[in-house]
Amino acid sequence: MSPAEKPVAVVTGGAAGIGRAVAAALAGRGYAVELFDKDAGVHGTAATLAAGGAGVTAQTVDVADEAAVKAAFANLQARHGQLDALVSNAGINIQRPVTALTLAEWNRVIATNLTAAFLAAREGAAMLRASRGAIVNIASTRAAMSEPDTEAYAASKGGLVALTHALAVSLGPEVRVNCISPGWIHTHREKLSKRDHAQHPAGRVGKPEDVAALAVFLLGKDSGFVTGANFVVDGGMTRKMIYAE
Ligand SMILES: NC(=O)c1ccc[n+]([C@@H]2O[C@H](COP(=O)([O-])OP(=O)(O)OC[C@H]3O[C@@H](n4cnc5c(N)ncnc54)[C@H](O)[C@@H]3O)[C@@H](O)[C@H]2O)c1
Repeated sequence: MSPAEKPVAVVTGGAAGIGRAVAAALAGRGYAVELFDKDAGVHGTAATLAAGGAGVTAQTVDVADEAAVKAAFANLQARHGQLDALVSNAGINIQRPVTALTLAEWNRVIATNLTAAFLAAREGAAMLRASRGAIVNIASTRAAMSEPDTEAYAASKGGLVALTHALAVSLGPEVRVNCISPGWIHTHREKLSKRDHAQHPAGRVGKPEDVAALAVFLLGKDSGFVTGANFVVDGGMTRKMIYAE
């Protein structure tokens, strides 16, 4: 197949939340975007984002399933013939006391948040090298700090930050690899109070678009000297000392 007319991006976990916002931002900048999500609602998201004329398509994929990921990238290659940008964003959290956390739960979080990013990078590497493309992994400020009962999530995100610099060294110079560590990003599930906003040095809780804007920069040509790095997008929360309420 001949190279696509537009740059092609894959966004995992693109059905909702941050992934959806990243997909919308990339589509708005002329990328053909393909969403990989295990939720069948991803097709509705793609249709909504494509309604404005953008090229957004979707595949129902469990990104932790090696065979499914291989098939999804093969399918993408057959239709687009190239990949310029990969955003590994799909993630889950299981918050449970470590004394009660089962091995199956631990494995599910690690597989979804960490192993999936390895699988996607591996399957996308040849196309990304050919296009001198870029990867952005979505980690978390929980890679560097914790609430109680978040061992699997914290370990997965710490691993993702390390995987990012390893990939940057292995896949460079053709492919740049960076990660974004968001803090509290409001994906419309919870109702926010004034206090929620005010505790952030930036004066507000984050929005998915705050992450999307940085992802677009890190995937684009203007960030050509940036690779292997982790960018914190948290309204300053991890810089704030808290001794008491
Ligand atoms: N929202 C935040 O405050 C916040 C903060 C730090 C980091 N993050 C990270 O950002 C990413 C997106 O978070 P969000 O808040 O938008 O989450 P979300 O739950 O709104 O969306 C996650 C998406 O990933 C998909 N997904 C989950 N498991 C999958 C799998 N195995 N295969 C394919 N798709 C799968 C879900 O179906 C969903 O569409 C996650 O990696 C999360 O850990 C979020």
